[in-house]
Amino acid sequence: MAAPTDNWIKAPSTNSSDATGEGVIIDIGTGDGRFVYQSARQNPNKLYIGIDPNAPPLEKVSEKIHRKPAKGGAPNVLFIQAAVEDLPSELNGVADEVHVHFPWGSLLRAVATGEIALLGNLRRICAPEALLEVVIGLDPERDQTEIDRLGLTPLSVEFIDQQLVHKYQAAGLEIIERGIIPASEWPEFNTSWAKRLQGNEGRAISYLIARAI
Ligand SMILES: C[S@@+](CC[C@H](N)C(=O)[O-])C[C@H]1O[C@@H](n2cnc3c(N)ncnc32)[C@H](O)[C@@H]1O
Repeated sequence: MAAPTDNWIKAPSTNSSDATGEGVIIDIGTGDGRFVYQSARQNPNKLYIGIDPNAPPLEKVSEKIHRKPAKGGAPNVLFIQAAVEDLPSELNGVADEVHVHFPWGSLLRAVATGEIALLGNLRRICAPEALLEVVIGLDPERDQTEIDRLGLTPLSVEFIDQQLVHKYQAAGLEIIERGIIPASEWPEFNTSWAKRLQGNEGRAISYLIARAI
């Protein structure tokens, strides 16, 4: 497995001795692709793949990546239009890291309630011992309608331990780290939604890191 990048909410533990800085990083629900683009510019030896079913927010960055690197290009980036429900089989086993940042809709429901079939899709694209990072930032008041619609339970550490650990395990993903970060300690985090949601006192971050087993 390649060494994880430094673009994690918390540094994941790794046994990797790979110092080449290579690897494949997949961002599911990539939105406007900011995390993928910025990370790819910082780590030119790694391949970044951003995936989202909604293509229009990716139009601008999709043009930008084809420029010369000195003019903002990123030849190590690929964007794919797809949902977590139908990830292309060509991605099977290729990812050293999978990221899911501030998901909504069925992607949020899958990772926050532990839908084993869709977690299995995330596991399917993982190389052995790949790391999956899930970052969720819900506000119990502002997001009440969506929380009710999706049938979500607040993502406390207890809920993760009692309800999610065994579901992730059943999908072949071992949760190795989890936590809640209060709104006052919102970390530096390179996605557009992180920046948009930051500053709202009711919005803590729940995160978990799992290893493909
Ligand atoms: C709040 S945005 C976050 C975008 C980006 N990750 C960020 O942090 O800026 C949620 C994203 O999840 C995507 N999404 C929703 N359902 C999805 C699904 N079933 N599969 C993959 N992506 C999905 C949406 O299209 C949207 O771009």
